[in-house]
Formats: sequence, structure tokens, C-alpha cells
Amino acid sequence: MSLQVLDSFYEGKAKTLFNTSDPTLIVQYFKDDATAFNRQKFGQIAGKGVVNLAITKALYKLLESKGVKTHLVDTLDERRMVSRRVEIVPLEVVVRNRVAGTFAKRYAVPEGTVLPAPIVEFFLKKDELGDPLITAEAAIAIGLATPQETQDLDRLARQVNEILKAFFLALNIELIDFKLEFGKLPDGTLLLADEISPDSCRFWEVGTGKKLDKDRFRQDLGGIEDAYAEMLRRVQSAT
Ligand code: TMP
Ligand code: ASP
Repeated sequence: MSLQVLDSFYEGKAKTLFNTSDPTLIVQYFKDDATAFNRQKFGQIAGKGVVNLAITKALYKLLESKGVKTHLVDTLDERRMVSRRVEIVPLEVVVRNRVAGTFAKRYAVPEGTVLPAPIVEFFLKKDELGDPLITAEAAIAIGLATPQETQDLDRLARQVNEILKAFFLALNIELIDFKLEFGKLPDGTLLLADEISPDSCRFWEVGTGKKLDKDRFRQDLGGIEDAYAEMLRRVQSAT
């Protein structure tokens, strides 16, 4: 691919985004920087960028093969992904299969409680406000999405959940919850954007309940690099 990487135009918490010689494409550089609780906690996880890009690429290829459109185009090397330029929908879409994290805290429900059916939640993507929970109705009212888009986000998130739950279960991993971000092409088509990785999912090993995701960093459990490497090993054994 004879794509020239130009200037950076966005510095995120875990990725830096670059313009390219093709106005419809961008390059995302996956960093080792880790933050939690809206940057109150920050550090580095050695090799994280490499693991997260490899896992995201494998999962996006799997999802594409099942008909879910993503922004993935290609990779340039082990830290740089070429992706479609999209307008990011300012909603984080979280799917939960078991209670954990902020859901456990918000409703005082024990971590690990199995939910009778998956729950989809929207959060407003706004760091200054700490990414608050938002209803679909409020998101529509303040112009963040159309009614059709909120329905599409909900449907796509549930579809991704079914595909990934089955994929990870075959690797002896239970997908507890995860966060998705979506972007829009100029014609309005919704694409899965950002990443799906141990940063954006909770993964518990079946049987032991061992956490193999960013909760090891959030909760100072240690063994973070090993957990990320273990997730990559399992994903690569299946793809
Ligand atoms: P939560 O329990 O903290 O709301 O997180 C739910 C899921 O979303 C969990 O798998 C972690 C992921 N997540 C992110 O990827 N980014 C975020 O900023 C937050 C708050 C959660
Ligand atoms: N990624 C978010 C942050 O930095 C929250 C989290 O993952 O816990 O702060």
C-alpha cells in the first residue's frame, strides 16, 4: 500500500491518529499508555499497543466475515492500523453479560451476577463530564444520534456480543462486558470503529475466574503484561 503517513491530528489516551495521503483513510498508532477512571490513574503496560492492535485486527476480521462492517483497512506494522476516516458517534456503547465495573457500583449488585439477558447501555463520550450514562431518548433530544441510529447501535452491539461471546467461549474465556465505538461514513453508513481489546473488554477465564483484561491495571492486581499476552495467544490460536 503506497500510503504516506502525514501529521497527527488527534492524541487520544491509548492511540494517536494521523492524516494520510488518502483523505478517506487515517492511521492509528497504538500506544502502551494506559489510563483508568477518566485519567485519575495512568501508567504504561509494556507491549500493550502491539497486543491490542493484533487482537483488534483478528476480531474485526472475524466480525467482517459475519457481516459486521468495521473501519479496519489494513495494518502497516505491529502498532499502526490503516482505517476508514469516519465521524465518531459521541456515544460509547457498552454490552454487559455479567455484572461488573460501574454497573456493580451504580446499583450495588455483586460483581459476577449473571444477567438474564445482555444489557446495552449508552454513555456520552465527554471526558469533562466523566462519560455519564445517557438514555437513547436524551441522546436523540440533544442531537447526538437519530432514532434510527440509536436502534442500529443497539442492534449492532447485540450482534457483536453474540459473535464474540461464542468466539471467546471456545477459547475458555467468558466475555463479561465490553465497550464499542462507532463511526459514520459521509453517506451515513455506521462502521464499528476504535478497538476491541483487553482495554475495552472484561475477560474472565472459565473455571478459575481469572481476570485477563485492564481490570488488572485498574485494581492493581499485577501480572498485567502476562494477561494481555495470554489473551493474544488465545486469540491467535483461533484465527
Ligand atoms: P464499566 O463497567 O467501567 O462501565 O465498563 C464497561 C466495559 O467498558 C468494560 O469492559 C470496560 C469498557 N470501558 C472502556 O473500554 N472504556 C471506558 O472508558 C470505560 C468506562 C469502560
Ligand atoms: N479508559 C477510561 C479512562 O481512562 C476508563 C477506564 O477504562 O477505566 O480513563
